[in-house]
Amino acid sequence: MKLGIIGAMEQEVETLVSLLENKRTVEYAGSLFCEGVLDGVDAVVVRCGIGKVNAALCVQILCDRFGVTHLVNTGIAGSLCSELDIGDLVISRDAMYHDAQACVFGYPAGQVPGMPLTYEADTQMVRLAVEAGESVNPGHCTVGRVASGDQFVSEKALKEQIIAITQALCTEMEGAAIAHAAYRNGIPFVIIRAISDKADDSAEMDYPSFEAVAARRCAAVTRAFATLLKKKNAQ
Ligand code: ADE
Repeated sequence: MKLGIIGAMEQEVETLVSLLENKRTVEYAGSLFCEGVLDGVDAVVVRCGIGKVNAALCVQILCDRFGVTHLVNTGIAGSLCSELDIGDLVISRDAMYHDAQACVFGYPAGQVPGMPLTYEADTQMVRLAVEAGESVNPGHCTVGRVASGDQFVSEKALKEQIIAITQALCTEMEGAAIAHAAYRNGIPFVIIRAISDKADDSAEMDYPSFEAVAARRCAAVTRAFATLLKKKNAQ
């Protein structure tokens, strides 16, 4: 078992990188891949950079060069649902693009032709991520859809449009691309996100204040998840 852990920004990965034992770092395609042992689990942690292409690139490198067996995408997200507040956790049941459009050929909004409309997360990883999330933030961990696109969502109208297309719980800029690349490689994945803003006109104000708190929470959940996955795989 080798866990590939992807975060888009430095704040999302720095805690996990600092916890790696026996750390080796190597650069591919402009990203630093930090390989080592995280709480007893072989792991590679990488900051992929923001957006879908950066995210997918890193998945392929994790598969080809590191032979990862499981993928976790962790980081922050904007809430698409009034019940989800800043600091709350979302675990992906599945992931979907909100900015893919080939409707003229009969595909629903969000679907890349030839690909599924949604990418299903691994059910065992989801279960363990929920258990990890509940241990870090009890009662504030929801399973559902994650919507991704190359847009920071900070307008109510765009938020409403994304909800109408995806019915997702939260939006961010990498998860579905990671899910898509995991699907192409036959690797199980889960997305673990903490809410940093409401993805509306308040997002620009909330995001800088809550980014660090939410990112730290994600790191704690990912760490707990790694421990649970190790236990499960040893059984
Ligand atoms: N990541 C965190 N908040 C976000 C938002 N509002 N839109 C896109 N990605 C985000």
